Amino acid sequence: MKILVTGGAGFIGSAVVRLAVARGHEVVNLDALTYAANLENVASVTNSPLYSFEEADIRDRAALDRVLEKHRPDAIMHLAAESHVDRSIDGPGAFIETNVNGTYNLLEAARAYWLAAGKPEGFRFHHISTDEVFGSLGEEGQFTETTPYDPRSPYSSSKAASDHLVRAWHETYGLPVVLTNCSNNYGPFHFPEKLVPVVILNALSGKPIPVYGDGGNVRDWLYVEDHADALLLVLEKGEIGRSYNIGGENEAKNIDLVRTICAEMDRLRPESAPHDALISFVTDRPGHDRRYAIDPTRIRTELGWRPSVTVEEGLRKTVEWYLANEDWWRPLLERQGVGERLGKA
Ligand SMILES: NC(=O)c1ccc[n+]([C@@H]2O[C@H](COP(=O)([O-])OP(=O)(O)OC[C@H]3O[C@@H](n4cnc5c(N)ncnc54)[C@H](O)[C@@H]3O)[C@@H](O)[C@H]2O)c1
Repeated sequence: MKILVTGGAGFIGSAVVRLAVARGHEVVNLDALTYAANLENVASVTNSPLYSFEEADIRDRAALDRVLEKHRPDAIMHLAAESHVDRSIDGPGAFIETNVNGTYNLLEAARAYWLAAGKPEGFRFHHISTDEVFGSLGEEGQFTETTPYDPRSPYSSSKAASDHLVRAWHETYGLPVVLTNCSNNYGPFHFPEKLVPVVILNALSGKPIPVYGDGGNVRDWLYVEDHADALLLVLEKGEIGRSYNIGGENEAKNIDLVRTICAEMDRLRPESAPHDALISFVTDRPGHDRRYAIDPTRIRTELGWRPSVTVEEGLRKTVEWYLANEDWWRPLLERQGVGERLGKA
């Protein structure tokens, strides 16, 4: 397949690009190279004849038309987004422009391209979204694909809006779409403003490790390479018009996740143990969802997919990767807002 991946210079998009190329797909990576992007994430495939890059913004319809006409992909995997909840609290505008208007632009460009090509049967528009669109759970229960949407942050509401647009373009225009809603990812190449890399890098440099609120917020953690694997499976085997929840089957409280990372750091850097002494509870994020949990029954039973690693195994690999790749993360600490407390409203 020839796949146009939007947001392929970001964290998850780059994992999709690397895996798709490794599996012999042709990949066009379309990315606007925002603060969150890093072309080093795809350095391992840059010289492959299967890989090409287009610097373009999904808010720019003419650019999208040009890229689609030039490369004529069989499928689009749409991951480009503003993705950091704390930044969405400080500046929601960019989230509406990229996640809502940008997705609208891409849908319209895809529809025009698909129509002009005579509605090829195999064409797919795969929209990648988050479990955050479902809102916050209590102590019990899990999100299924039919859970009503109840987003509570500017980020999750912009993603919810984009999901609705994608479904509408299928129902109204027949665009062959598939959707996925995934839980929190972690792993190599994660931008150092997100929880897991913040914990690793602060532990490494002896800085306080910030934990929001009481640390009791629960997330279902998924290793990013498992997510990329699930996404390619849904692209190839998912039913048109259907959505699939993707989870790691690894629910953990933030504080327990942080302590697990600290224990890994104690193992790998015993001279500065115990790293959990650096934990510092800070003011909670406004509107902080308490618990997310994914019911993965549909993707497991219909497509036969399961995550390949436990959170302990995945965190071990992730910590080892950060310790071995200072050249990757060190320059990113200089980017605007990184290392600052954002989103206090
Ligand atoms: N990170 C998670 O835990 C998680 C979980 C579930 C779903 N998702 C979804 O997966 C997708 C990717 O998330 P991520 O964590 O890799 O994000 P990321 O912030 O690491 O990467 C986003 C990429 O999109 C690009 N981009 C942003 N605005 C753009 C625009 N206007 N035009 C073109 N490119 C643009 C950026 O340059 C960057 O390379 C997002 O849609 C996100 O909502 C993320």
